[in-house]
Amino acid sequence: MNFRPSQRASAMEYAIRDLVLPARELEQKGESIIRLNIGDPCAFDFDTPEHIKRALFDAVIEGHNSYGDSEGDVELREAISERERRKNSNDIGVDDIVVTTGITEGIQMLLGAMIDNGDELLVPGPTYPPYSSVTRFFGGSPVPYRTIEAREWRPDLDDIRSKITDRTRALLVVSPNNPTGAVYSRKDIEGICDIAGEHGLPVISDEIYDMLTYGKEHVSPTSVSKDVPVIVFNGFSKSYLVTGWRVGYTMFRDSGGFLSGLKEAFLREARARLCASNPAQRAMTAALRGPQTHVTKLVRELKARRDYTVRRLNSMEGISAAVPDGAFYVFPKIEAGGWKSDKEFVLHVLRKGHVLFVNGSGFNPEFGNMHFRSVFLAPVDVMEKAMDGLEEALGKPA
Ligand SMILES: Cc1ncc(COP(=O)(O)O)c(C=O)c1O
Repeated sequence: MNFRPSQRASAMEYAIRDLVLPARELEQKGESIIRLNIGDPCAFDFDTPEHIKRALFDAVIEGHNSYGDSEGDVELREAISERERRKNSNDIGVDDIVVTTGITEGIQMLLGAMIDNGDELLVPGPTYPPYSSVTRFFGGSPVPYRTIEAREWRPDLDDIRSKITDRTRALLVVSPNNPTGAVYSRKDIEGICDIAGEHGLPVISDEIYDMLTYGKEHVSPTSVSKDVPVIVFNGFSKSYLVTGWRVGYTMFRDSGGFLSGLKEAFLREARARLCASNPAQRAMTAALRGPQTHVTKLVRELKARRDYTVRRLNSMEGISAAVPDGAFYVFPKIEAGGWKSDKEFVLHVLRKGHVLFVNGSGFNPEFGNMHFRSVFLAPVDVMEKAMDGLEEALGKPA
């Protein structure tokens, strides 16, 4: 007898971590693997700024160890509201902000409040996997819209338009994008807001990488359109180098009250899960209000690593990579023939080149097919070894 898990949980997939198993097997045999699969700066040589660490320590010592409010700590929400006003000239009040255990929890709660059986969510193709898997978990269908590789993976507005049906619930934008590093232009964002407005749809905007851009400005839908309802996800994991602390937030930017029922459903879920980490939230207030110099350093360093990685990738026969303008991912195309699938390619590179990437189809079987995702978070000397490994593996077809 074997306990039968639910069907919905059996369908859960997360390509970014699924390939760790074969990597671990090789490591257990004594091989050294360069892992470029996970978008976690703290797993490389970037460390949490000292004043943020100290703020967490102080919060614990000062006794902020009880449960907190389900909506999140009010001082942190004030700091988020101020940040939003500064960055996007937005007036998002404290009551429209909910602090969550990373954006990841916000995605689960929002889609739980939004998706019924048969509902559709328009997502970028390719996309960060939880938007698809959580939509499916709640009985809905993720519908990918095309992003165009030859235009640095920016969105195809005609394709978005053609994919809207009477079951579409919202339109997702992730800029800077995971897995492609695309930063959508003001015109792209204006076009998306126009389409959402015409169809009475809210935009969901994941802005976790908004501070990590290399020359191009991040444009939030909230700064472009003042009347289209927008649900913004943002968080501290990447820009404040606290991936393991698990703090993010969801904001409802809605002048006409269109989202009030959705927000109430979201808050009901928030109450049922108690609260996000209380001391970590206190530390995030200090992070927002304290020095931001680490961001400038982080961006400068990441740009150098991106430049090196993209140059190496594009010098290899059989590989081509659009230049990512943000985040810390590159999504190269596998042009070399002889591979049955991108997963087979990635496994081959793992075994022969000792580098772990993620297969592109894990981000969408159609739009990610015959691509792979690499992070460029490692220092240049490590990226050099990884690129050497890839180049060597390319020279040895399966
Ligand atoms: C686009 C995007 N959104 C959200 C997350 C997860 O954020 P958090 O750590 O706040 O849960 C990631 C992590 O890789 C991401 O790439």
